Amino acid sequence: LYGSPSIGGFIEVGPFNNLMISEYENVYEEIKQFPIHDDDIFVVGYPKSGTRWTEEMVWLICNDFNYGKAKEVDLINRFPTLETDGVSFYNINVGKILSEMERPRLIKTHLHWSLFPNEITSNAKKPKFIVVLRSVEDVCLSQFHHHRTTLGFKGSFEEFCKLFLAGKVLQGPYWSQVLSVWDQREHHSMLFIRYEDMKKDLAAIIRQVASFLGKTVPEEEMPRLIDHLSFDSLKKNPAFNHEDMLAQFNGDCNPFTREGIVGGHKAVMTPEMIGNLKAMNEKMFRGTGFSLLNDE
Ligand code: A3P
Repeated sequence: LYGSPSIGGFIEVGPFNNLMISEYENVYEEIKQFPIHDDDIFVVGYPKSGTRWTEEMVWLICNDFNYGKAKEVDLINRFPTLETDGVSFYNINVGKILSEMERPRLIKTHLHWSLFPNEITSNAKKPKFIVVLRSVEDVCLSQFHHHRTTLGFKGSFEEFCKLFLAGKVLQGPYWSQVLSVWDQREHHSMLFIRYEDMKKDLAAIIRQVASFLGKTVPEEEMPRLIDHLSFDSLKKNPAFNHEDMLAQFNGDCNPFTREGIVGGHKAVMTPEMIGNLKAMNEKMFRGTGFSLLNDE
């Protein structure tokens, strides 16, 4: 269940290595066969790592800072997701949506590397990947609220933490997904960024991402871009905040723009919960060369 190439291979159970819910079968083959272009740009992140925030940044950098369109056209239509249309799970015609996009295409995915299209996993095509990472404690808390509000999870936070540790949550174990992508860093064009660094110095990350994409952000553009990307403004932006879906949620918060802070888990996690996650980090990341989250 926690397998990663870094630590000795997968435990092969079922077609999706126990990573995905069974409905994924509806799109597995189509995604595997999906044609890739070398100029595709992917944003990759385990769910609740700040993936959508990163997408919004990348979209503006690649679209001449078109704030008007960014406020009019929903992010899921500007920056489609490989495995879902953002509303229903795994029953969409992914190929049609993506094949009709203008190039270079901007595509988001939460998938484990083993589920990426064959043209990527076989190294036949070399798109760019911007990979966003976030500390496991805050991801776990954010996922709890996501499961509670959108997926009908009824248990306590403590119960959710146990499921999270066992990888029995939407899109499988955090550690496997993170390591599966990390393992590819020498074979593909990848930029790893951290949610925590975006919070600390967004301008620095914007410059880093732009340079990775061969773009520049004029300094006079920076204040407006940072303002557009701030938590408070994205929380109010209907093209970002999924407010059209809020009526379907049975929760008390919008899980897409909930709190937006670093260390939120400290107020609600017991020392035991934090200890379990840290122990799992130690177990899973030791010996993998993965260090990006370790200095927090
Ligand atoms: P919280 O639940 O901790 O608030 P993803 O897009 O990968 O699903 O990640 C969602 C998380 O990113 C949520 O975390 C959300 O609030 C946070 N987020 C979204 N936009 C943000 C922004 N502009 N600044 C900080 N955090 C943001």
